Amino acid sequence: MATGMLHSHYLFVVLFTLIYMVKTILLLSDRDELLEKFKRKTKVVEMIVSFGFLATGIFLMTQMPVIPTLMYVKIALVIASIPLAIIGYKKKNKVLATFSFFLIVVSFGIAQKVKKEKAGGVSIATSGKAIFEDKCSLCHGNDGKLGLSGAKDLSATQLDHDGIVHIITEGKNTMAPYKGVLSPEQIEVVTQYIETDLKGK
Ligand code: HEC
Repeated sequence: MATGMLHSHYLFVVLFTLIYMVKTILLLSDRDELLEKFKRKTKVVEMIVSFGFLATGIFLMTQMPVIPTLMYVKIALVIASIPLAIIGYKKKNKVLATFSFFLIVVSFGIAQKVKKEKAGGVSIATSGKAIFEDKCSLCHGNDGKLGLSGAKDLSATQLDHDGIVHIITEGKNTMAPYKGVLSPEQIEVVTQYIETDLKGK
């Protein structure tokens, strides 16, 4: 589900950027008539694409266990570019229009960077469960109740969020610390998984 959504999001972003690019080029090269014609022709498409772009983007955000700081920067850039683009094309202000196109391109670059950073880790949505089953099930079992080598029953844990994060990070007795093995984001994600899917179940 999330992967399909990610692909649609990319498709919308690419289409959006293409439309935007043509408009910027036409504006910069003073082809006013062509620009008007292009705007008229692509009006509906542009509306659908912008809506799809935002809707899939928002959906993907809700699926992210941890929202990286860069993501906020990206969203701020996209949001900032919208009024700039509207004013820029209305007033045929080349500087504003180009600047807003530039913002979109930069935010696209940021998205790729966020993706690269994630590539070494795990993908969105499935990550908490995947990390748990990969690294923790051995002693705790998939349901958290196995109790191998004295492992605590996670479904009965009394620890709060910070307590769980602390144990995973620092370890305790036979449980080795996971700092250095898992990133703070991964520890956060696996903690959320324990709290929502194992604790009290
Ligand atoms: C080598 C076996 C082993 C592995 C692997 C392991 N644990 Fe543990 N875990 C333990 C043991 C043993 C304890 C009990 C420590 C104690 O209190 O003495 C424990 C305790 C915990 C607790 C505290 C529960 C409580 O209520 O006190 C949490 C949370 C926890 N583990 C999470 C994890 C997570 C998440 C992973 C994977 C990233 C993991 N563990 C991997 C053995 C393991």
